[in-house]
Amino acid sequence: MRCTPFVPMAALALAAACAPDQSAEVQQLRDRVAELEAMVGPPPASLDQFYPPQAEGPVYLARMHQLAGGITALGVDLGEQDMENVQRGFAQFRDEYLAVSQMVPEWAGQYPIEPVDRLGAALEAGDPDAIGAAFQEVGAVCHTCHVANLPKTYFRYRFGDFMALRITEPASGRELHYPDLMREIEGALTGAVVDVMQGQPDRAREHYGTFRARFELLGTVCAACHTTERRYFVDADVWEKIDALGDALAPAQPDPQLVQHTAQEIGEESCGKCHLVHAPSALTRMHWDEMGALAVR
Ligand code: HEC
Ligand code: HEC
Ligand code: HEC
Repeated sequence: MRCTPFVPMAALALAAACAPDQSAEVQQLRDRVAELEAMVGPPPASLDQFYPPQAEGPVYLARMHQLAGGITALGVDLGEQDMENVQRGFAQFRDEYLAVSQMVPEWAGQYPIEPVDRLGAALEAGDPDAIGAAFQEVGAVCHTCHVANLPKTYFRYRFGDFMALRITEPASGRELHYPDLMREIEGALTGAVVDVMQGQPDRAREHYGTFRARFELLGTVCAACHTTERRYFVDADVWEKIDALGDALAPAQPDPQLVQHTAQEIGEESCGKCHLVHAPSALTRMHWDEMGALAVR
């Protein structure tokens, strides 16, 4: 075919006709995008039915423990050369493995039956080398999925949801979302430091008052997820540092360096360390929400 354009419309049509076949490449890219989405995206939607609020408890986790119990018991019986229970245990494990593999359709391909059947054959033949290799192969199936999906599942179902928290500010009765509380705390702490540096100690002390009140409110948030008394982050040691900041702000002309240093200690001991524990889950969930909005289909 000649590829010389004559008129603009025909030129477009001809250019398309002469372009190399891109469908294979497009398909490859689509597959790659799907792979990457599976890596960084949320767990598959059908897992939702096995966790609260849809389920009464973490059902999938309970089935995992059952699966793990089955294969561990198999190893124990094998060590004891209790071959009768080995055979029975294997049959039970295989049934449970099949049942679990059908719980989440998106993960159907991640529970191949072949390694399990190779384990069954090796157990029947009683060849120790083949049994060892087959156990490892089954273990690799478990491990591969865990590396990719355990953190996601923890973040999504096990950690609690900071974004769902609603905090009532006692003085005004205002209802705050968690990020609002964080931003107000940040603004008040930074305000106390900056205003001292700018020679405005009265304003700094006002910020400090707000900071104390908001920090007290932060201390009440923990009970939304924790039932035991909280140490670290909002405990008496941190309040000592908060009191020390008040002392540093008390003189008519506070020492800016002392104020800055004390505020920094609060930042390191409370804010920074609490973020290391709690922010990965909260931020990952926000990231998934943003990914949902980006979805291209
Ligand atoms: C296709 C994915 C997948 C496969 C395959 C898989 N698991 Fe899991 N497993 C999970 C997920 C997701 C969790 C996290 C559940 C939770 O925390 O609620 C988990 C959690 C577990 C836990 C609890 C870990 C912990 O401390 O939180 C055990 C034990 C376990 N699996 C055993 C196994 C065994 C044994 C196999 C292989 C025979 C296996 N799993 C195969 C997805 C998988
Ligand atoms: C419960 C432990 C905890 C403590 C203590 C804590 N934070 Fe946070 N903070 C979080 C979590 C979780 C997030 C992520 C969710 C969010 O962005 O609101 C966060 C987010 C933030 C953000 C980002 C808010 C946004 O715009 O989304 C700021 C700013 C912040 N924290 C400041 C502070 C400061 C300053 C302190 C200490 C005075 C502090 N935080 C103490 C848990 C904590
Ligand atoms: C949205 C839920 C949520 C909120 C709110 C929350 N945490 Fe946690 N936090 C968790 C989870 C889940 C863990 C993991 C282990 C566990 O459950 O203790 C954890 C772990 C911790 C740990 C380490 C393990 C332990 O139990 O000692 C500390 C310390 C902690 N949180 C302190 C706090 C403090 C202080 C606050 C309030 C300022 C707070 N948390 C608010 C969910 C939350």
